[in-house]
This record gives sequence, C-alpha cells and structure tokens, in this order.
Amino acid sequence: MEDAMHASRAALLAGLMVLTSAPGGRSGDKPNYDAKMAAAGATFFKVNCASCHGVDARGDGPIASQLRFAPADLTRLSRRNGGDFPTEKVYKTIDGREGATAHGGSDMPIWGDSFRVAKNGYSEKAAKEKIDRLVEYLKSIQEPPEKP
Ligand code: HEC
Repeated sequence: MEDAMHASRAALLAGLMVLTSAPGGRSGDKPNYDAKMAAAGATFFKVNCASCHGVDARGDGPIASQLRFAPADLTRLSRRNGGDFPTEKVYKTIDGREGATAHGGSDMPIWGDSFRVAKNGYSEKAAKEKIDRLVEYLKSIQEPPEKP
C-alpha cells in the first residue's frame, strides 16, 4: 500500500516536470529554459556574440582565429560542469563587471556596461534583461550530458 502511494506520487511529480518544462527541456536532457526569452536571446547572440563564438556557439566564429584565446564552445557549458548548467557563472562571465569573474587578459569582452544602454539613458534593468535572455538561449542549446 505504502509502495503504491509512493509510486503514484512519483508518477505525478514526473508528470508535473514534463508539464513545466519548455520544449526540449526534459530533465536529464537540456536544462529547463524560457522559450520566449531564449528566442530573443538567440537573435541577440547572433548580433553580439557570433563573430567570436560562431552562429551555432561552438567557438568557431569568423574572427575566432585572430584572438589570443579560443572562444569557448558554449554548447558544452553543462557538460563541462558535471551536467549542470552553471547559470550564475555564465551570467557573471557575460556581464564581466565583477572582479572575480572578469577574466583579465582574455578576449571575452565585458558586456555589462554596454548592455545598460536603454531607450532613455542607462538602466541596470536593461542590462539584466539582455543577459538573462542570453543565458536562457545558452541553456536551450546545451548538448545533452554524456552517457555514462
Ligand atoms: C571578441 C570575441 C568575443 C565575443 C564578441 C564574445 N566572446 Fe565570449 N568568450 C570569448 C573568449 C576568447 C572566451 C574564452 C575566455 C577565457 O577562456 O578566458 C569567451 C568565453 C565566454 C564564456 C565562458 C565560457 C566558459 O567556458 O565558462 C561565455 C559564457 C561567453 N563567452 C559568452 C559570450 C556571450 C553571451 C557573448 C555575446 C554577448 C560573447 N561571449 C561574446 C570571446 C568573445
């Protein structure tokens, strides 16, 4: 009896997880992401990031070979982090304004300042919105974890 209840609760939970995931956001596959934000982020990525990271984010953009450091393959962020998408680290890397993560000497630009430009002046909210969208986009393109 106890077991049956347990099983049906697990099934219910699994069902809920499927319902709340974005397309392709199955757990154990890609991290969950907001599809609408990811779509906006994709466009934004092509404009700002593809020159180095490549249109498919694999690190092979047209100017990649002229950089001192190879731009990272951004489809493998989860894989390289034991299967978990490192949201905060990615956010801070893009922002670039915080000392600890600003990788001095690398060719990855600091975006936080320019992303603050909004319709009427500067706004931190504008910067956060842009970075959040890029983060959602990057989540959406993660390669599935390696099979053990
Ligand atoms: C001028 C070239 C260039 C552009 C443009 C650029 N990047 Fe980068 N990016 C790099 C390089 C080079 C690295 C690797 C830096 C290092 O290893 O220190 C990097 C690293 C990163 C990382 C860290 C990856 C890791 O392994 O942790 C993220 C995330 C990232 N870039 C996202 C972006 C996003 C999003 C944009 C667009 C807003 C962007 N980059 C635009 C050159 C660029």
